[in-house]
Amino acid sequence: MALNDQFRKPSGWMGRWLLRNMNKRHSGVTDWGLSHITIPRDGAILDVGCGGGRTIAKLVSASGSGQVFGLDHSADSVRLAAKTNAATIRTGRVEIIQGSVSQLPYASDIFDLVAAVETIYFWPDLPADVREIWRVVKPGGSLAVICEVYKGAPAAMSKMVEKHASKTGMRVLAPEELRTLLQDAGFVEVEVFTDAPKGWVCATGLKPLRAA
Ligand SMILES: C[S@@+](CC[C@H](N)C(=O)[O-])C[C@H]1O[C@@H](n2cnc3c(N)ncnc32)[C@H](O)[C@@H]1O
Repeated sequence: MALNDQFRKPSGWMGRWLLRNMNKRHSGVTDWGLSHITIPRDGAILDVGCGGGRTIAKLVSASGSGQVFGLDHSADSVRLAAKTNAATIRTGRVEIIQGSVSQLPYASDIFDLVAAVETIYFWPDLPADVREIWRVVKPGGSLAVICEVYKGAPAAMSKMVEKHASKTGMRVLAPEELRTLLQDAGFVEVEVFTDAPKGWVCATGLKPLRAA
């Protein structure tokens, strides 16, 4: 399996190695991204494309008494995320399941916050998948999309990923494309933050209390 396919859907020993590595490597961009949103003290949070589960653990620590859900389409991601969060799964604060962002196995209007870290590059139908997230976010709740590369960033890593995007199939968006993506799905008060030297981007949006 090509390396890029391992990021898309980690599996086997190589996938497990990458997931452990990403748990460490994505920690900085995740903390930076999460600093742009208010993490609800209670209520429900979903981490879509949760990988090895480090973001779930961060959300548990930051959210007081809230419940945190994780979802990933890779069985190996779900297994490692469950291991990473074994203690909080036992106490009932965390629940992690296998599934696709394209068809979230949750009722509508239930999450106060949905986070998507380093995963949107791989989603099969970005506009429809963000609309699917919009469906499960509570009115008044929010979405945070966090990526360590964006189109047009001066950072070496962004340039490299962008250059090879046509071969790898990774979808790397510019900040304004991210803004449009969230707005078109129905999110309002969309804000896009960047750290240009690092190539990091975080887009946040709110589901209005009353849909337009
Ligand atoms: C590059 S990893 C990032 C994992 C984790 N969020 C992190 O920051 O370390 C991308 C993750 O998104 C998951 N993923 C990709 N496409 C998905 C989809 N369509 N539905 C659910 N999960 C998906 C992959 O299985 C993988 O675990």
